[in-house]
Amino acid sequence: MGGGRQRRRGPRDLSPTVILDRRTLWTQNAVPGQAVYGESLRKFSGREHRRWDPTRSKLGAAMLRTRDDPADLLPEPGTSLLYLGAGHGTSISHLHDHLCGQGNRFGGRLVAVDLAPRCLRELTHMAASRPGLVPVLGDARQHSAWGILVPRKVDWLFQDVAQAGQVDMFVAACRRFLNVGGQGLLSLKAASERWTGEGEAALFAGVEEQLVAAGFEVVESIELTGYEDNHRLYHVTMKEA
Ligand SMILES: C[S@@+](CC[C@H](N)C(=O)[O-])C[C@H]1O[C@@H](n2cnc3c(N)ncnc32)[C@H](O)[C@@H]1O
Repeated sequence: MGGGRQRRRGPRDLSPTVILDRRTLWTQNAVPGQAVYGESLRKFSGREHRRWDPTRSKLGAAMLRTRDDPADLLPEPGTSLLYLGAGHGTSISHLHDHLCGQGNRFGGRLVAVDLAPRCLRELTHMAASRPGLVPVLGDARQHSAWGILVPRKVDWLFQDVAQAGQVDMFVAACRRFLNVGGQGLLSLKAASERWTGEGEAALFAGVEEQLVAAGFEVVESIELTGYEDNHRLYHVTMKEA
């Protein structure tokens, strides 16, 4: 923010359930009274919200780092999102607050794929109180094994797998599951890729070129250093299948 234009701002609604209060994100808790990963709880206008920790969620970090409107990184409540590399469900829990809400009052669907059984146990436990969340044990590359759970193409696809070949995996999943014109968010961990000796900046630039060559428009490449070192989050739209 420019020096002369600085002013104190109150909490800003990014969506019906997501608040930006100064530099802190909060989502309205779909399971009131329960924290998911030890985050703090606080009421805004009488409704309980959970603090979205940007050091535990690359999406949360990207929303604080984007030069665009942070709301641009969120799908509409009530839509479907495919999430590859769900982990322990930190980001998933906040996306669920936003897409589905309490008792899935918005009618969203969040398909969360991970190949680690221990992650799936936690996601399955979470899904019991969060309707609309669909945990899937599977390899993000093996579409035929779990693709039946995504019967229609989605408008949003998020990937955070932190393993070699992240871009190819993302492109293949978008071609199979994302609508043309849909939005993709690729969290890329530099250290997971094969080291070419040319440095991280060259690697990140190469990723952008790869995405463009595969038919995506790169809306923004968001540097996450400080929250997640050696990571970038690419926000793309798919121009052609
Ligand atoms: C960095 S963690 C994800 C953290 C999570 N996205 C969050 O923000 O809370 C990466 C996850 O990707 C999973 N993973 C790695 N390779 C995968 C693959 N081929 N298919 C599915 N999941 C994969 C790992 O098991 C791990 O849980």
